[in-house]
Order: sequence, then C-alpha cells, then structure tokens
Amino acid sequence: MVNKPAWIGLVLLALMLLGVGIGLRKAPSAPPPPVTTDPTTVTAYATEPIQPIPEPPLLDPLKVDLGERLFRDPRISRDGSIACTSCHIFGLALTDRQPQSRRVGGEQTEFNTPTLFNVTLNFRLFWNGRAKQLEEQIAHPRDTGTEWNNVLRKLKTDPELAPRFARAYPQGMTEATLQDAIVTFERSLITPNARFDRYLRGDKNAITREEEEGYYLFKSYGCASCHQGANVGGNMFQKLGVMRDFFKEHGPLDEADMGRYLITKQEQDRHVFRVPSLRNIALTAPYLHNGAAEDLRAVIAVMGKYQLGREIPPHDVERLIAFLHTLSGEYRGRALDQAPAR
Ligand code: HEC
Ligand code: HEC
Repeated sequence: MVNKPAWIGLVLLALMLLGVGIGLRKAPSAPPPPVTTDPTTVTAYATEPIQPIPEPPLLDPLKVDLGERLFRDPRISRDGSIACTSCHIFGLALTDRQPQSRRVGGEQTEFNTPTLFNVTLNFRLFWNGRAKQLEEQIAHPRDTGTEWNNVLRKLKTDPELAPRFARAYPQGMTEATLQDAIVTFERSLITPNARFDRYLRGDKNAITREEEEGYYLFKSYGCASCHQGANVGGNMFQKLGVMRDFFKEHGPLDEADMGRYLITKQEQDRHVFRVPSLRNIALTAPYLHNGAAEDLRAVIAVMGKYQLGREIPPHDVERLIAFLHTLSGEYRGRALDQAPAR
C-alpha cells in the first residue's frame, strides 16, 4: 500500500502529464509555436548557415494600418506625384522590375530599388549600408523628396486620417508620428513560412529533391559564406569582385559603383556593398546594385566568376535557381509567389 503523500504526488504527476498532453494536441489552425520554445526544431537547423525567418514582431495594428496608408499616398511626395508604392510595388514584391527608377522630379535613381520585405532583418540599410535605422531613411526620403512640415500641413485637415492618428497616438498627427507610422508598417513587412523555412524546421517534403540539391550546392560553392542568417544575406559587407575586377570588365564606372568607399573614403571599401538578402529573390529581378543582371541565371554567372572565381556549369545553375525559388515566403498569410499583381 502506498502511503498518503506519495499517492497524492502520483495523482499530481498524472494531472501534469495530462495537462502537457492537452497542451501538445493543439487545434490544427493554431499558428506555429515560436521557434525558441521547441528544442527539437531548433536543433534541426542549429548547424545550418540559414535560419528560418522569426515570427513578425507584435505591432499596434492601428499604426501599421496608418503607415500603409501613408506608404501608398502620393501626398507625401514633394509635388504630390509619387508614393512609396510607385517603386516599392506590392504586386512586385515591393520592387518595380526596373534596373533603376525615376524619383520625384524625374531624375534617375543611382541604385536598383530593393524589396522592403524583411528589411528589418538587415544589419544596415541601403546597398552601401549608409544607414542603420529605418528612422534615418524616413526622416529624409530622397526618392519622394518629402518635406515633413509640408506633409503635416496637408494631412492635418484630412477628415479621415487626422482622427485615426488621434486614436493611434496620444499626441495625434505630428511630423514624428507620421514617420513613426511608416516605420511601424515597414517593421511588419516580414515574410515567414517560405518552403525552405518549413524544410529547415523539419518538413523534409517541403522542397523537392532538385531544390535540396541546389541548397547543397549553395553551401558547397560557398554562396552561404556571404548569403547567410535568417535573411540569407544582409548581415555583412563584401566586395563585388573578390576574385577578379568586376568593374574593369563592366565599365564605365558610376559613383554608386564605389560602394561603401563613398561613405568611409577607406580604400578597402571600394566596391564594397551590403551582401543582399536572397529572401524572395525569385520575385525581385533585375539584380545587383545597378540592376545590371536581368535574371537569376545572369546574376549567378556573375557570382561564380567574380565572387568565387569559377564558372558554374549549367546543371548546377539550374539547381541553384530551383533552391532560390524556395526562399519565397508569405505575406499576411498568402504565398508571395501566388499573390495577384496590384
Ligand atoms: C523612385 C523610386 C523610389 C521611391 C518612390 C521610394 N523608394 Fe525606397 N528605395 C529606392 C531605391 C532605389 C533604394 C535603394 C537606395 C540605396 O541603396 O541607396 C530604396 C531603398 C529604400 C530603403 C532601404 C532598403 C534596404 O534594403 O536597405 C527603404 C527603407 C526605403 N527605400 C523606403 C522607402 C519609403 C518609406 C518610401 C516612401 C517614402 C520610398 N522608399 C520611396 C527607390 C524608391
Ligand atoms: C564573397 C561574398 C559573396 C559570395 C561568395 C556570393 N555572393 Fe552573391 N552577392 C554578394 C554581394 C556583395 C552582392 C551584391 C553585389 C552588387 O549588387 O553590387 C551579391 C548579390 C547576389 C544576388 C543578387 C541580389 C539582388 O538583390 O540583386 C544573388 C541572387 C546572389 N548574390 C546569389 C549568389 C549565389 C547563388 C552565390 C553562389 C554561387 C553567391 N551569391 C555568392 C556577395 C557574395
């Protein structure tokens, strides 16, 4: 016969186990648990150079919504002619499919328009990494020529926007809250649940055999030594032309081709760029800082020749491309590579 305290202990243990069991049997519609709470899935990719995109941060939906409205609103440009969405177009994965774009006033941008999806997962902003925070970009958005004091004057009397700002911010609509709303919206632009992320988390059927071979090649060729981490890039600076001079063979030089040298004036920063993220890369052609590579085949040839010093045979190129397609994620629960253009 078991004595009383031990018996009570056993009942309590049984209840705890039951509780755990119920906890594990989640409803199928529940969102996936945050990665850090499940040790088995963490070890599944602990040794991989790429990690799944973390869950989006919790943000005030009112501010996100206001930010999106402003992001789409041409009234924030200097002459009312263009919005952020003129170049960062939703149906085109927040790019515009142009090598370079036309900013307010018609002048051409020096750089290719990058996607803003997962922008917060980059360690620096812009091709040459000249800013650290989204707040720096939005304070002086060069492409829209925004002057915030004028925008505030225009929007303060907007019968719809002004009351919404009063609800989202105790101080109401100010230059600071206009900018904060856009930045908050930008922080929400996370695209989790790419097929490759599901594969990393342990779903081996999430990608095909060919795509998996492409991933092995991505590692064995050394692509992952530069394009790595949760954003598959965006966490270091590297020179374009490590193995041979890219710019000598692709002249004439533009100022933008100087890369970080323009900012630091250090010789070792000549032609050095932020290694771009390869998230959603199949959706953001053309490629490179100046948009000079029209498709993935062209840019992989550049990477092979100038970053790795080798020619990648067509069979491997196809597999690398197949792998890159698995990096397209979901935005607001919908696969980006299936979203209708708008
Ligand atoms: C005329 C086209 C155009 C418009 C309009 C435009 N952008 Fe951009 N955007 C670009 C280009 C080109 C770059 C890259 C510039 C660079 O690297 O120097 C860029 C870069 C960025 C970046 C940095 C991205 C990264 O990966 O580091 C952010 C953030 C950004 N834009 C936000 C905005 C916001 C917010 C607006 C509206 C206020 C806007 N953009 C309007 C073309 C545009
Ligand atoms: C030594 C570091 C390094 C290596 C190795 C490397 N890359 Fe890159 N990659 C870069 C840099 C830097 C850029 C941006 C260059 C520019 O735009 O001027 C880039 C750009 C790209 C782009 C275009 C991104 C965009 O948004 O335009 C793709 C795609 C790409 N690399 C894929 C690969 C693949 C695939 C491999 C392996 C075959 C590879 N890279 C190897 C550093 C590297």
